[in-house]
Amino acid sequence: MGPPGAGKGTQAELYRARHGIPHISTGDMFRAAVRANTEVGQRATEYMREGELVPDAIVQQIVEERLLQPDCAAGFILDGYPRTLPQADALDEFLARTGRELHGVIFFEIPEEVVVRRITGRRICPTCGANYHVEYHAPREPGRCDLDGSELIQRRDDAPETVNRRLEVFRRWTAPLVDHYRNRGVFLAVNARGTAEEVYERISEFVAARAGRAVGR
Ligand code: AP5
Repeated sequence: MGPPGAGKGTQAELYRARHGIPHISTGDMFRAAVRANTEVGQRATEYMREGELVPDAIVQQIVEERLLQPDCAAGFILDGYPRTLPQADALDEFLARTGRELHGVIFFEIPEEVVVRRITGRRICPTCGANYHVEYHAPREPGRCDLDGSELIQRRDDAPETVNRRLEVFRRWTAPLVDHYRNRGVFLAVNARGTAEEVYERISEFVAARAGRAVGR
């Protein structure tokens, strides 16, 4: 959990690449649905463009479908979900229903001026969804995806006025989830400033302890 641009997706991708843990990003799933022009994509696109939350019922449907896939049987990392109290309740209910357990919640603490700098420099690949930053995580060839050579673009919701709205939405709906999780013995608040590797180091001990498997460095 954390505000837009805090680095949640970047850390989840490191865990996916280094430890093979599925990275379940609701934002990525919605962007893929918009690209593919599916019914879910058509319903989500307007909310995303405005920096608003997609309605909980749509979110819950795509999350549950994804978490029931075989690759999630041994565990997964959620990124960008849950984002509201009803989503957190629905996740608890889903985990209980499917005999699973929540092992850890990491909250990314970071000043808003830092996230604005991260977001405005972000570029993504329109073909595969890979994420870059013009300064902090530049592609090998400027403006081109390392993985498939596509021309990189800016996310539509990374426009400055939409970023402000996303930050307001975060404060209003998602920040209160800290209280929901803090007292459950599974919560870590991490300083999300510094390089991606520094943040990875800060959370690795907690993840290894909570996940009960070798997911350190
Ligand atoms: P989503 O895609 O989840 O957006 P977000 O939460 O706003 O998060 P971001 O992707 O902006 O940031 P991040 O924290 O993952 O940072 P990242 O690693 O990319 O959601 C988009 C929209 O979908 C929502 O607005 C909503 O409409 C909808 N939606 C999604 N989930 C929903 C839900 N559950 N309920 C309702 N609606 C939902 O990093 C950002 C940049 O910084 C990158 O360029 C990266 O390279 C760089 N960077 C990362 N870490 C570092 C570092 N340590 N140092 C320097 N640069 C760094």
